[in-house]
Amino acid sequence: MWRTRLFAGLLLILLGMLAWGASVVVHDTTARWFAKDLTLRSQLAVSGARQALLTRWVPERSQDLEEVLSEISRDERIMAAVACNPDMTPLAKTPGFPEQFTCTLMGDGLLTLAGAPLTDRSVWQTSSTLPGGSVHVSAIPVFRGDRQLGFVGLIHDLSFLERRAWAMRLFLWITFGILALAAAGVTLVAVRLAWRGWSAEFRRFLEGGAPAPEFQPILRDVREFVQRLSEEREVELQGGKWTPQRLKNTLGQHLHGEKVVILANREPYIHERKPDGKVSVVHPASGLVTALEPVMRACSGVWVAHGGGSADKETTDAQGHLRVPPGEESYMVRRVWLTPEEEHGYYYGFSNEGLWPLCHIAHARPVFRNEDWKQYDAVNKRFAEAVCEEVDSDDPIVLVQDYHFAVAPRYIRERLPRATIISFWHIPFPNSERFGICPWRNELLEGMLGSSIIGFHTQSHCNNLIDGVDRFLEARIDREQNAIIQHGHRTLIRPYPISLEWPVRWVASSPSPKECRASVAAELCLPADGLIGVGVDRLDYTKGVEERLLAVESLLDRFPEYRGRFVFVQLAAPSRTVILRYRELNDSVEALAARINAKFGQGSYRPIALLRAHHEPPAVFRYYRAADVCYVSSLHDGMNLVAKEFVAARDDERGVLVLSQFTGAAKELTEALMVNPYDLEEASAALATALKMPAREQQDRLRAMRAYIAEFNVYRWAGRMLVDAARLRRKERLTGRLTGGFAEAPGSPS
Ligand code: G6P
Repeated sequence: MWRTRLFAGLLLILLGMLAWGASVVVHDTTARWFAKDLTLRSQLAVSGARQALLTRWVPERSQDLEEVLSEISRDERIMAAVACNPDMTPLAKTPGFPEQFTCTLMGDGLLTLAGAPLTDRSVWQTSSTLPGGSVHVSAIPVFRGDRQLGFVGLIHDLSFLERRAWAMRLFLWITFGILALAAAGVTLVAVRLAWRGWSAEFRRFLEGGAPAPEFQPILRDVREFVQRLSEEREVELQGGKWTPQRLKNTLGQHLHGEKVVILANREPYIHERKPDGKVSVVHPASGLVTALEPVMRACSGVWVAHGGGSADKETTDAQGHLRVPPGEESYMVRRVWLTPEEEHGYYYGFSNEGLWPLCHIAHARPVFRNEDWKQYDAVNKRFAEAVCEEVDSDDPIVLVQDYHFAVAPRYIRERLPRATIISFWHIPFPNSERFGICPWRNELLEGMLGSSIIGFHTQSHCNNLIDGVDRFLEARIDREQNAIIQHGHRTLIRPYPISLEWPVRWVASSPSPKECRASVAAELCLPADGLIGVGVDRLDYTKGVEERLLAVESLLDRFPEYRGRFVFVQLAAPSRTVILRYRELNDSVEALAARINAKFGQGSYRPIALLRAHHEPPAVFRYYRAADVCYVSSLHDGMNLVAKEFVAARDDERGVLVLSQFTGAAKELTEALMVNPYDLEEASAALATALKMPAREQQDRLRAMRAYIAEFNVYRWAGRMLVDAARLRRKERLTGRLTGGFAEAPGSPS
């Protein structure tokens, strides 16, 4: 309703302005008309008295001349008149003729009339103001034959003109006022009537009546919203926050405890043989693993992955099976072995030199080689077969992870048409213009559409995929449902922002933040008032590590008080070093850190501590808990779980997160200090703000972000996907019963 009132108010203001504009135009026009009218009147008055004037136009008869002038000024609008000699001296004038209108003034005026010589039709005129109001002054020459005797000056009263203008203005204001009120009233009445009709129709529908066609879209939205609310309510009633147990219950309740099979390139535990001959278990630096591992612990099932560790083969059985986590053994890993050529083409080549730079706006040129594509396609097929070997029903739930496996869903579907396949893309999905440069764009999209659901972190990545399909494939897009239908098969496209387990298991086993701080400060030889910054990344060009170090340099340049006191610790896990671009990054980061250290280093003080090695989670959490500030400076990132990990690590509610606006996490962790990592001044100013932020504000910000992650944790992420999958399965079973199959009839409603 407030919109209608606003509209009516605006209408009133608009009409008021129109009235004012119209009155100005009308006033100017009438003033011009009246001026013309007065000129004519003056000429008429003088020419009517011409004979009388001529006979008395001698100095001796000035008395008589005054009488003629008085006769002329009998006209109610002529206030006074004067007869002037050619030498501009007055010959006669009516009593009370205003002093300021001298013969000289009027004579000079007549002389200014340009062009032809003066005649008795010539008139000079002007307007002026007297204490009693406005006047119009005119001077008209008087001729006897060709000889000019002088001129007559007339003063016209103009106050009547102002009275008329005001009357006119008043009339206009009243007219427009009435019009405005009428228009606003009609609008209000029309809106009220429409609203009443709409509400009545809506009420009728709620009471069981058939909805009018124009209500269909809104009713569908309402129905969906109500359904979502009631589902969330139901889930709330079942157990409040999302926990591993609740995820397990959801699986049991909605999916009858089906076994979940995850397909991801990276395995959760890598067995490496160390130089001393012993085998160690490594947790890979991968956001995907950080998020999915707790889900698998809760759901059990099988994780199919590439066995890439140097001791992976000897730690599995003949089928590549191994129960994990070590000591707990709650789920199974199935390792798939790749030849060096396969790994090169599929992983390093197509996945990480092709798709990775294609999907990230980080200014690295994608490289597409035919040989890599062939390996990628063949390896996807191999992994799809491994998945099919691991399932224990013909309609399993398969979670396909990330860009390494864009075409695997299609191969799985070919073997298991009834499978529920959820693909989740952990990295951004590019817009169609960018995606279109990939020579195998159609094959990739077709492969992905083998999925039942495709998930991304954000809605904009969902939109990019839908636009890509719209542009490159023959498929029907159901924009209302965010679904794509191809060959009668429906794929839902949904945003599921990923998160962490809550609480994060490494926090409980970490020393207190105070102890972490003391030990890290001692390691860095920091003074008692020292300050610690931390960054944790794989050495990848999308993470903005160079920009981060440059921001630290800018901080020390612009805020000298931090020199000697502030150390930024960069944990940098070497990654994908077979690829030249990654090796170059290693070198450039090292050179940059050395340059900044040389610039600001003094004695044992070095502002940058670049720790280029793989760090296991307990070590990473020690730095998180020691730091005053954590800077995540990704140039483009699907989510970035380092940001969430830092927040999770700070159960003391101290420390500040400085976060790149180009991460998915920036959409959720809104209490972080948000920066554009390319803007070094902004980033260094944010670091300075973080370093002097009062404890109370740190607490407020962290508390809000911790509450958010606690609620929107990874169990909820997985739970929502599984509930959506369950709903889809129910619907498909129903459709299957009706159509005798599981494929959706083309064009069938959702
Ligand atoms: C990103 C990808 C993951 C990948 C991780 C580590 O987070 O989305 O799929 O596991 O990087 O990269 P890596 O190549 O070492 O597995």
